[in-house]
Amino acid sequence: MTHIGFQPPAVGEEEVAAVAETIRSGWLTTGPKAAELERRLGEYLEAEHVVALSSGTAALHLALVALGIGPGDEVITTPITWPATANVIVHAGATPVFADVRDGDLNIDPEQVAALVTGRTKAIMPVHLAGQPCELEPLWALGLPVVEDAAHATESRYRGRKLGGLSDATCFSLYATKNLAAGEGGLIATNRAELAAAVRELRLTRRGDGALYDLAVPGYKANLSDVLAAIALVQLDKLERHGELRRRQFARYDEAVAGLAGIRPLERDPRDTHARHLYVVRIDPEEGGATRDDYQRALAEEGISTSIHFLPVHTLTWYRERFPEQPPLPVAERAGRDVLSLPLSPAHPDEAIEAVVAALRRVHARFAG
Ligand SMILES: Cc1ncc(COP(=O)(O)O)c(C=O)c1O
Repeated sequence: MTHIGFQPPAVGEEEVAAVAETIRSGWLTTGPKAAELERRLGEYLEAEHVVALSSGTAALHLALVALGIGPGDEVITTPITWPATANVIVHAGATPVFADVRDGDLNIDPEQVAALVTGRTKAIMPVHLAGQPCELEPLWALGLPVVEDAAHATESRYRGRKLGGLSDATCFSLYATKNLAAGEGGLIATNRAELAAAVRELRLTRRGDGALYDLAVPGYKANLSDVLAAIALVQLDKLERHGELRRRQFARYDEAVAGLAGIRPLERDPRDTHARHLYVVRIDPEEGGATRDDYQRALAEEGISTSIHFLPVHTLTWYRERFPEQPPLPVAERAGRDVLSLPLSPAHPDEAIEAVVAALRRVHARFAG
């Protein structure tokens, strides 16, 4: 049986050569490659400032710290995300407040957000799940800082405008599975010069050029190594080609699941550009004849790795114990039970995607009859 990985990295000899060249240059820590990455991503993301960081988590965290968010403050976010989005609110000393999501695309529901705003709310942190931009306009209309978690949304456009310079800060991840993958890394894009300067200060531990140094703030040491920046620069050159492959894989899956009762993909808004980071389906146990967990197990037996994006953060142990009064979030909780992400990667040849489609059809025929 052949095994189809969920999101194998799409890297090759070009990345190997870039790493070797960087090591030979003598710059292992943040240096010219990180600076070049910041400049090129500023152009690509249509943002005035980009700051390279050690992870997407660090980007989200430093954005909140730079905005002055701390103890006593509340930040409204979505439960359908990787826990890091909520964790950084806790790290900043503030309180995460979870707003339910919309059923169609599982992005944060702006009406639920508006209902949760209090005098203590200091920021909104939406996520662009799977690469579909969330509704930003109603969030901006609340008049609070918006920090976008764009970890899935490197190529996304919201109503024609590139995500990056639209809100106060937009945070990206360079994690191994992401569309622009360096292994680890993160970025903050912003048009606010003072915010970018604050993050630059916070990402290091000290400031100074010579033997003497000074300390303006106790920094976090969250800078990006040039070795990783070199990989990201090669990945940036490949982004368009990789995007075409993602589009092809999405189209194949769309066609395949259209014929499978009880299995439907997350909605995509034709007014936006979707980054096609994840192909997420929802499995209706009635029509599909079995639960998501049954489908995931059966696909694993067929050699197909899948994943779950996401289990609602407020239902995870630490959040349940820390916030016992959390009211139910029914749309997110149902999604946590029925979402399943199919293998997707520019590293997958067409035959791998065909093998996934064939296995999904066999499993569906068995369960749905
Ligand atoms: C939605 C979301 N936010 C934040 C992160 C954190 O990024 P990183 O792993 O680079 O810290 C991830 C994933 O890794 C993510 O999927």
